[in-house]
Amino acid sequence: MSQTFVRACALSELEEDTPKRVELDGVPVALVRTEGEVFAVNDICSHANVSLSEGEVEDCQIECWLHGSSFDLRTGKPSGLPATRPVPVYPVKIEGDDVLVSVTQES
Ligand code: FES
Repeated sequence: MSQTFVRACALSELEEDTPKRVELDGVPVALVRTEGEVFAVNDICSHANVSLSEGEVEDCQIECWLHGSSFDLRTGKPSGLPATRPVPVYPVKIEGDDVLVSVTQES
């Protein structure tokens, strides 16, 4: 199984705890730089069609601003209702000042 990484943005464009929305291969992705790492999760809340990148980041979680479910940036799992399903998380690589994300898995 191989993964294709595409450049999402420059590391220097990401402000700590300020999510950034990008679209990679047609997939909306919320990028979050927090606690010394960069995470990438699908930008659409698993509860309804809401952009997670417009929410707040705290304790390695991103909060959906509409109904308040938070998603763990490492696993995509919601911490509480109303969302019950996880959001997809994507592998991230940092190369120099480039943030690379894999939204596809090819076998
Ligand atoms: S739309 Fe995100 S928790 Fe309802």
